[in-house]
Amino acid sequence: MRKTIHVDTAHPYDVHIGAGLLDDLAELLPEKIRNVAAGGGKAVLLTDEHVDPLYGDRTAQNLSALGFQVLRTVVPAGETAKSGDCYLRQLSFLAGNHVSRQDVIFALGGGVAGDLSGFLAATYQRGIPFVQLPTTLLAAVDSSVGGKTAINLPEGKNLAGAFYQPSAVIMDTDTLDTLEPSVFADGCAEVIKYGMIWDAALYRRLSENILPSCRSDKELQAEIIAACVDIKRQVVVQDELDKGLRNLLNFGHTIGHSIEKNSGFAISHGSAVAMGMAIVTRAAEKEGICEKGTADGLKNLLEAYGLPAEAPFTTEQLLAGMLSDKKIEGGGINLILPRKIGECFISHMDVAQAQKLLAGGRS
Ligand code: GLY
Repeated sequence: MRKTIHVDTAHPYDVHIGAGLLDDLAELLPEKIRNVAAGGGKAVLLTDEHVDPLYGDRTAQNLSALGFQVLRTVVPAGETAKSGDCYLRQLSFLAGNHVSRQDVIFALGGGVAGDLSGFLAATYQRGIPFVQLPTTLLAAVDSSVGGKTAINLPEGKNLAGAFYQPSAVIMDTDTLDTLEPSVFADGCAEVIKYGMIWDAALYRRLSENILPSCRSDKELQAEIIAACVDIKRQVVVQDELDKGLRNLLNFGHTIGHSIEKNSGFAISHGSAVAMGMAIVTRAAEKEGICEKGTADGLKNLLEAYGLPAEAPFTTEQLLAGMLSDKKIEGGGINLILPRKIGECFISHMDVAQAQKLLAGGRS
């Protein structure tokens, strides 16, 4: 299956999903990017040290074949690449290589490569084009689509960032074959999130087909990715700048970011989001907000996917981490709470209410 989803944001673009797409850049890149290549422009291929040996050469060759002068830059794998130091080094790499606003950055990798490349593209010379080439499930279904770009600060995750849409997203589903089981499971947390916030039928499908147990079913994988991207499209086109509806995509994330931070980023984003979704669902059920049985059902599903549902931190630790998150507004916290599978809402609460809720969700 090959699928193209048009994301009609202020700067519209296509998301292409399918097997072998890294070899089809000539066909899939938008005309304006192909014109840069034809004119001998520069392609900055930003990837990480895990992805580079797998797909770096092939992607570089395919970009060269289009006419690009390819400059490859390889960052460390993991969140350290989203540090201020790494960001500044990459800006210097662009400036030192005389990259101009006519050139293009290609982000090859997972969410870290995508977020960093996007923020570089948004800020270098006040904005140059970039293309997302996601190679993880998490990047495919979430971070590569919607234009959120960011780096981390010592005070918290994604605290310096910009909304900056890519010129295209090209997701070669074959790249998922080389993902470690834990990294694949990480992406599944975001997939389950879409079922919880938006689509009960997708949630049922995920319960009937445990994705980590059917990794050879490429058709299923591509269909699920396309379903998630289409949900993200529907949300993002209504609220590109995250002022309301888009907050729903943060289900499990406010607590999840706190968990990541409390663990010194030893707990992965997907695992932290899984814990966050489980905690907030348990809490909502205890408060009588959410349909009975949802929390147990979610816990069982997460565990079937190899994802954790309990966080190894106290309520106070979780709250302290949440208070440094950027989702804090007007002295309160926005938490996404479930009503039932497929339906969540945004709840604004003060710190005392959040503390009570968290305590309920942890026991
Ligand atoms: N990852 C959440 C969003 O794009 O809004």
